Amino acid sequence: MDQRIEIVICLGSSCFSRGNKATVRLIDDWLKQHGLREKVNYRGNHCFSSCDKGPVLKIADTEHYHVSAEKAIDILREYFRL
Ligand code: FES
Repeated sequence: MDQRIEIVICLGSSCFSRGNKATVRLIDDWLKQHGLREKVNYRGNHCFSSCDKGPVLKIADTEHYHVSAEKAIDILREYFRL
């Protein structure tokens, strides 16, 4: 069983056009910089059906809403205590 932490970024058209297009790469770079890329299962997904609260980012079982690129990094820092 995959024990890695699941990080899922919404790549549905609404979230994609409202910021996740850039955030998807930023998160990947941040994970690599901190040696976490192999410890997580980072992937994109289609619409979470929460477009009105997008951009959406899910870490473990928690969905985060209105996630700008800057906020995404803050959420990751807090989650990984870095
Ligand atoms: S496109 Fe992201 S929640 Fe719908």
